[in-house]
Amino acid sequence: MDARVEIRVRDDGPYKVTGPVVIVDPEGHELVPPDPGRPIVLCRCGQSHTKPFCDAAHKTSGFTSCVRAARKADNG
Ligand code: FES
Repeated sequence: MDARVEIRVRDDGPYKVTGPVVIVDPEGHELVPPDPGRPIVLCRCGQSHTKPFCDAAHKTSGFTSCVRAARKADNG
């Protein structure tokens, strides 16, 4: 089993979480994602009606964010 968890920042959209994770509320109760067994998508725009999960509201809310990792200077 691959235990690696990847959180991918999608352009103008949610965080896509792939791997064996659980999402819990502040009291420690597990939240059931809308599509169990599929990657989890977490709202990044703040407009979802199913927070913390994405419900695609970002597509009509005008949310924009294109994150890129900083690259280290090449010392070679
Ligand atoms: S990122 Fe999709 S609804 Fe917020």
